[in-house]
Formats: sequence, C-alpha cells, structure tokens
Amino acid sequence: MAKPPSEFMLCPSILSANFARLEEAVRSVEKGGAGAIHLDVMDGHFVPNLTIGPAVVKAVGRITQLPLDVHLMIEEPDRYLEPFREAGAGCISVHLEVTPHLNRTVSRIQELGALAGVVINPATPIAHLDAILDTVDYVLLMSVNPGFGGQEFIPASLAKLSALKERIVRAGLRVRIEVDGGVGEANIGDLVRAGGDWLVAGNAVFGPGDPEQNTRDLIRSMREARR
Ligand code: DX5
Ligand code: ZN
Repeated sequence: MAKPPSEFMLCPSILSANFARLEEAVRSVEKGGAGAIHLDVMDGHFVPNLTIGPAVVKAVGRITQLPLDVHLMIEEPDRYLEPFREAGAGCISVHLEVTPHLNRTVSRIQELGALAGVVINPATPIAHLDAILDTVDYVLLMSVNPGFGGQEFIPASLAKLSALKERIVRAGLRVRIEVDGGVGEANIGDLVRAGGDWLVAGNAVFGPGDPEQNTRDLIRSMREARR
C-alpha cells in the first residue's frame, strides 16, 4: 500500500529522469525525502508530446511506497481514470481545458479512491475554478505550458498562485495547491510563501547534479520558506 500524500511536499517529476534507469531515479529521490512521485501522462493531442501510460505507472508503484501523483495531459481523461487508479495512482489530476463535465470527473476520481486534482494552464484564469473549488482535493497550477520538462517558469504564475491561495483561505476550504513547471532553487521559496503546498520539479531534480542531493536541497529551501 502506498503512503497517503502529505500536506506539504516536493514531488519530483520523472519526466526528466533517465527512463532506462527509472528504479534508480525513484530510489534517489526517495532517499532525498521526496513526498510523491509525479508522473506526466501526455497523449500527443492535448500536448505536443507522448510519454507514458498505466503500465509505467504500475511498474513505478511496484518499487515504491511513495504516493503516485499522476498528471493527465490527455483529451478525454474520463476514459482512463480507472486504468490509472488500478495502476496505483493515489492522486489524479485532469486539465480543466479538456474536461467538459468537471464535477462528474472529480467525483469519479474520488469514488475510485484517489485524490482529485484539477489543472489549469498558464492562460486559464483562476476564476474558471470557482464552480468546482469546493469539491476538489487539489488544484495544479501550471507555471509553464505543458508538454515538456526543462522550460522556464512563467513569472505571472506567482501572482496567480497568491490569488488562488487567497480564494481558498477566504472560502475556508482545505484545497491544496500544486505548482508544476520551471520550479527550482530560484523560485521555490517564493512559491511556498505565496501558498504552494506541493511543488513539482523535474529538471531541478534530474538535471545537473545529483538527484538525491537536489531533492534534499529543494526540500530544505521549502522548509526554510515555510517558517
Ligand atoms: C510539464 C510537466 C511537468 C514537467 C516539469 O508539462 O507537467 O511535470 O516534468 O518539469 P520541469 O520541472 O523541468 O519544468
Ligand atoms: Zn506535470
């Protein structure tokens, strides 16, 4: 059984890891203190890239107790909720831009026993979340346009994050905020101070340097910013 996700955590994205050595990648971030493994599922339609499906999610789940945080960048996500849940996903997020019946999709994810997240692209206003904010477990704010790892953080995401946090606090909700894209030492402290609970990092973990040490350093910066 995978552990439940914690309130505040770093979620390394294996998109930037060496896919021929995934086990090593997972072990290194586990040792560094990662809270979850972020898995990016892309369909070549919603985003211009293709990545992994339930088989890889399942394989990762077999080698770790960390929660699997599955980010679906796919059209018609409803068709794949069950296979990903069966593969061991503990958190499943769908993009608002391609999910016509969000309430239904969010409920379905929760019925399957996973935490449900709704993702918005950088160009999607947070007001579009208003009608579903009280039903989701988390919101994933994209701070790059989805599709690839290693892109530059879009600075306007910070103000968007603060505004979303304020709405959540004002409404008295316990919705967590995840931030994904271009997260690294240069901005992780600001993101925590602005209200980020779950921070995704691909290149900052699996790019230059040692993934275990990078994980540890990013978590230290998160904790320092939270004080
Ligand atoms: C981008 C993905 C991200 C990506 C982040 O479409 O959703 O999870 O792996 O990678 P970095 O941290 O390198 O921007
Ligand atoms: Zn992602």
